[in-house]
Amino acid sequence: MAAEFTRRDLAKATGSAALCSLATSTGKTAAQSKEDQPSTRSFPDGFVWGTATASYQVEGAWNEDGKGESIWDRFAHTPGKIKNGDTGDVALDHYHRYREDVQLIKTLGARAYRFSISWPRIFPEGTGAPNPKGLDFYSRLADELLASGIEPFATLYHWDLPQTLQDRWGGWESRDTGNAFADYSGYVAERLSDRIRHFFTINEFTTFVELGYGAGSFAPGLKLPPARLNQLRHHAVLGHGLAVQAIRAKARQGTKVGPAENIAAGVPVIETPQHIAAAESYTRETNAGYLTVILEGRYTDAFLASAEANVPKFSPEDLKVISSPLDFVGINVYVPQYVRAIDAAPGYEALKFSKSHPRMASPWHFIGPESLYWAPRHLAKLWSVKDIYITENGCGAADDPAADGIVYDTDRIMFLRSYLARLQRATAEGIPVRGYFHWSSMDNFEWTAGYGTRFGLIYVDYPSLKRTPKLSASFFREVAGRNHEA
Ligand code: FCB
Repeated sequence: MAAEFTRRDLAKATGSAALCSLATSTGKTAAQSKEDQPSTRSFPDGFVWGTATASYQVEGAWNEDGKGESIWDRFAHTPGKIKNGDTGDVALDHYHRYREDVQLIKTLGARAYRFSISWPRIFPEGTGAPNPKGLDFYSRLADELLASGIEPFATLYHWDLPQTLQDRWGGWESRDTGNAFADYSGYVAERLSDRIRHFFTINEFTTFVELGYGAGSFAPGLKLPPARLNQLRHHAVLGHGLAVQAIRAKARQGTKVGPAENIAAGVPVIETPQHIAAAESYTRETNAGYLTVILEGRYTDAFLASAEANVPKFSPEDLKVISSPLDFVGINVYVPQYVRAIDAAPGYEALKFSKSHPRMASPWHFIGPESLYWAPRHLAKLWSVKDIYITENGCGAADDPAADGIVYDTDRIMFLRSYLARLQRATAEGIPVRGYFHWSSMDNFEWTAGYGTRFGLIYVDYPSLKRTPKLSASFFREVAGRNHEA
């Protein structure tokens, strides 16, 4: 359906067909002339261009300097869990090569870097005595970034839970893990907020909960029954809220905090008022257990009704904590979910991807550039979010170096160009997107896909760990440098 749909249909659907057919004196249509003007394709002044990584995917040094074991260490060390038996034991050895990596990030033209802090590096047992060497690593990293003109943005939980907390309390099954997460977050914020001014609490609630504790395909590899899973979902958002409060209590004034969620973004299959309304309802209900409760302070009626007897136990006080005021909302955007309006309840239908819908290298990665317009637009429209960051966007590609050693990743450039055009549309319409972090700076450990799936702007030759910028690195530098589509 979407494939048969042309730009012209879209113009008609949005009521601007007349604009497209009006030729100017130059022989171009009015719309084309407008697109040629640099300013119309620029991003707002001060827009933040950055790249992103996460601790377990890049650091290595899994048991050095007093670091405790994380659930991803345990999971990757369990035979059969990760493709080719890959692990994050060494990863990119970023823990030792961070200085070189910061210089590489600088060459990408990035002015911001989103990395994550490994909780078991800071608290090897999850709670109790901190490990000064762990904190020192992130302190040095922050210094190095700032000295290079790159603003550090830190994520506090990108899935590497201390294994001790999984063993002791069943991890996020217990509220105690949420409390421990808040203590750890407050501890880090107190010590690093003189230099790190932006903290993300939790990365992708949906992924670590649903895959880690529901499907069992991610660490810690559990398949919990519905009631326990719902309770765990509740504890995850509660942990986020508790961390927001702890950061507010301990960090320097003006420190900013928010989540980084992979919002399920409904994309109206055709841009008509009916389909747009359907995509909005889809987005609100599909994210009910995560972003919706965080931003509304209540579970939707449909969410509670569908949970039936498995409704999580929660108090009004929990809901207040979960919806603690935020400074911004971060969203990771990779795939669209096409939605259409239907007459029957609930008024929307999520469409299946057609068999030939194009994908990038990861089997899950259906392409839909419009998602980078609709996802932030839903945040602004549904919940009046005033500051939005795209905390992740990017793609895996085959990435074979050519004879000259360079990866000519034309597909990644195509992907980026298309997605960024839609992001530019969002900012041009006044949707308050403040920055974009590309996933990822460098190829890295792509969870259960191991090292076989490459998401970087910089190629990593794993046997030697040599880093070489891909063609897309030049593309990114061009966009970031000009603050403009390229
Ligand atoms: C996101 C994860 C990130 C990376 C990208 C490709 O879901 O947050 O760590 O694996 O996907």
